[in-house]
Amino acid sequence: MRSATCLPLAVLALAAITAATARPVCAQGPAQTPPMGWNSWNYFAAKVDDKGVRAAADQLVASGMKDAGYIYVNIDDTWEGKRDENGVLHTNDKFPDMKALADYVHSKGLKLGIYSGPGTKTCAGYPASLGHEEQDAKMYADWGIDYLKYDLCSFRPDVMYKQAPNDKAAQMQLMIAAYDKMGKALKATGRPIVYSLCQYGWDNVWEWGPSVGANLWRTTGDIEPRWQSIYDILSQQKGLAPYAAPGHWNDPDMLEVGNGKLSLLENRSHFSMWAMLAAPLLAGNDLLNMKPEIKDILTNRDVIAINQDPLGKQAHYAYSSGEVEVWVRDLQGGAEAIAILNAGSDVNETHPFRLDLAKLGLHGTEHAVDLWTGKKLDLTDHMPIQLASHDILLVRITEPR
Ligand code: GAL
Repeated sequence: MRSATCLPLAVLALAAITAATARPVCAQGPAQTPPMGWNSWNYFAAKVDDKGVRAAADQLVASGMKDAGYIYVNIDDTWEGKRDENGVLHTNDKFPDMKALADYVHSKGLKLGIYSGPGTKTCAGYPASLGHEEQDAKMYADWGIDYLKYDLCSFRPDVMYKQAPNDKAAQMQLMIAAYDKMGKALKATGRPIVYSLCQYGWDNVWEWGPSVGANLWRTTGDIEPRWQSIYDILSQQKGLAPYAAPGHWNDPDMLEVGNGKLSLLENRSHFSMWAMLAAPLLAGNDLLNMKPEIKDILTNRDVIAINQDPLGKQAHYAYSSGEVEVWVRDLQGGAEAIAILNAGSDVNETHPFRLDLAKLGLHGTEHAVDLWTGKKLDLTDHMPIQLASHDILLVRITEPR
């Protein structure tokens, strides 16, 4: 795994090598904790433009989200214009000056992200990077880009299905090589750019993502602002915990908090579980028209602290009883977070849920804090816990027994 960038000894010669240790100093790569920020796609899709991105940056600051840790402002698909005769990709009319936009975002203490893919076209049909990987990576670095989401899309028909028509294994090798190519191109720029793979989890990306320089990789298809979509994605994260670590994260897709018709409980449960999963927390809502209760969810510092825990261990699924499921996350210093989620559609279906501490490796009364009320809560073995449909109890236990 490549979680740190080690500079050549010569470069560091006088700076940081002590005669006693004589070891190279390794600068830590980006995304030592899951990236936090905002992305344009889930709410604005093709309507994203320069003005909207500046407004999102302003709102991250004004809402207190920046102070809570949301740093990346990520432009998704539809910023791309045409390539000129030298192969240089220009922005379209919606983005008159990407460098100026990056400067603006940086002036707010934030970072700017962008989107492309390894094929000829992005998913929305705009030019992508096939054959121009180094050129595009260099241009991103020149603009001051800090994050790249790289989406498979047309690479499938353009290359995989054409070059290896009936050979799934060869297709996957072509895909991995394409992601490796852009990973190397980004690295060659010398700029720390978070590299986010978007190929929907194909070929167990969590097993090879780190080897192509990825900092995160989508594990599933696209999220939608409906409970069933969120819950389906959550269910597909079982077993992926061992692949998350500082610098390398499973990505169950961007947040839908505040979007669609999700209820308040569903928004809260979605955010809680993404925090437990050590998922990137990329808000995908309309920040300018964000309701106070949505801002309260997105800026809950105690829940964010679970997500950003420096140990970098993703929660694992522990057990279910009826439609109530329990997930556990190990935290720095021996602490633990426990999430108890009622995934059922009716409270009666889960009656009565009783906590089984032994199944969590716990013994005796546990002193916990409920991270949504801030209140202390003692967890005892077999205590009944009643949760409304799609509600969650998220607690932190500082000294588990
Ligand atoms: C999809 C991707 C979405 C969004 C969209 C843009 O493939 O999963 O998150 O980026 O493309 O066209």
